[in-house]
Amino acid sequence: MNTATARRSSSIRSDQLGMLMHRLHQYAGIHIDSSRGVIAQCIERRMTNLGIDDVDAYMGNFDESINARAEWLALIDLLTVKETRFFRQPMAFDCVADYVEGLLQQGPAPSELSFWSAGCSSGQEAYSIGMVIEHVMRRYQPWMQWHGIGTDISFDAINAAQRASYGFDSVRHVPLEFRDWYLQREGMDGWCVAPAICSQTNFFHSNLLHVNSAPFADFNIIFCQNVLIYFERDKQRWIIDQLTDRLRPGGLLVLGAGEDARWTNPNMRRADWPGVTAYRKTGG
Ligand SMILES: C[S@@+](CC[C@H](N)C(=O)[O-])C[C@H]1O[C@@H](n2cnc3c(N)ncnc32)[C@H](O)[C@@H]1O
Repeated sequence: MNTATARRSSSIRSDQLGMLMHRLHQYAGIHIDSSRGVIAQCIERRMTNLGIDDVDAYMGNFDESINARAEWLALIDLLTVKETRFFRQPMAFDCVADYVEGLLQQGPAPSELSFWSAGCSSGQEAYSIGMVIEHVMRRYQPWMQWHGIGTDISFDAINAAQRASYGFDSVRHVPLEFRDWYLQREGMDGWCVAPAICSQTNFFHSNLLHVNSAPFADFNIIFCQNVLIYFERDKQRWIIDQLTDRLRPGGLLVLGAGEDARWTNPNMRRADWPGVTAYRKTGG
């Protein structure tokens, strides 16, 4: 949204906005870090799409019904920032390559390897991890299997991730050797992720606030970058603990640079990778 639009006066009163944000926080556990003007514009856009002019009438949608759940999800889709890119933090992917190499060389080799990109947005993070794993495996143990998942609270993001189709500008951060192997041209200026990566990477809608009831477990690698900012400090730590429980012994947890560097867990040791907030699970 452009700032000129965001500055236009809003029909939503401050108390209505406050109430909606409070209820959104109760529902999804997340804080939206945009200015009040931008949030108000998102809500107005949603009301326009629904053909509703009256803010109170719109707020009446948020009752206990199943439709209310759908409306919360539609609003969250508009309000969450989905900025992402391939190989967003290059050193984190070097860390993954190093971890996978170590795993394959330490023997006896595991029969398969798995990862989870939690808060994956439109899929670039998950596909970047997949490319790195595939690349290392090709070199050391090409017969080995891997699979990965990406999860996000936004349906739009999950749909985009499943399409696996990206514009020219999006792929400029993919290192050339990976681009040659794992991306394919699609039309004049588009690219898609090659089947070798796509077919082993699946995407699901899931709210990290409910990670304790999500049916995901037993990963070698979990990425959770630039998502925890949506949660309060105690919730952030609870989520990281939950992710830790879903790692295999010896597994690797990668957070965003500088994200909760003071978090500790008796089962986790800080990994010695410069510039990367990563932890290894004990055992394995
Ligand atoms: C800024 S993007 C980060 C994407 C990617 N991890 C990266 O670092 O490039 C944050 C993503 O977190 C998702 N998100 C926000 N709150 C969430 C929640 N409660 N559960 C799951 N995903 C959430 C948003 O929809 C968005 O796609």
